[in-house]
Amino acid sequence: MVKKIKVKNASIIKLQFFNDFPDGNLVIGEEKKSVPFPIKRFYFINSLFNKKAIRGLHAHKKLQQIILCINGSFELHLDDGQTKQKILMNDPYTGVYLRAAVWRVMKKFSSDCVILVVASDYYRESDYIRDYQHFLKYIKND
Ligand code: TYD
Repeated sequence: MVKKIKVKNASIIKLQFFNDFPDGNLVIGEEKKSVPFPIKRFYFINSLFNKKAIRGLHAHKKLQQIILCINGSFELHLDDGQTKQKILMNDPYTGVYLRAAVWRVMKKFSSDCVILVVASDYYRESDYIRDYQHFLKYIKND
């Protein structure tokens, strides 16, 4: 897991956790504390058995999200239109906070990978930019 994100509109979020060894870890996210937006939705992705799976391939106009890899690992590729960064997501206590207009691609999932996403708004297809050329134009005019 990287320590610093150089892509615009993206940063690292550390979750509070209690190590209750050998009785497990307790990991917490709270609105206005570790989560800097009102939480409207969460979703998770599991059963990533296809080694060639590629997810994401989009940016959002307004939506804010925190992406967490709560089990296993995957590669998160971020791109703000100028700077690109590959982040190895393998730390369940560290999330990546994405604000608007960050192109993201997720790949190289371990088969035990579980991705948890916390989002600032409900699902709206109109908030997605799914075409990379459109994304580049969108950020120029933003
Ligand atoms: P998408 O966000 O493209 O997934 P990923 O970025 O992980 O590859 O969503 C995949 C499909 O699921 C798409 O058809 C929209 C639908 N969807 C919902 O209906 N609600 C949701 O909250 C999300 C995240 C996706």
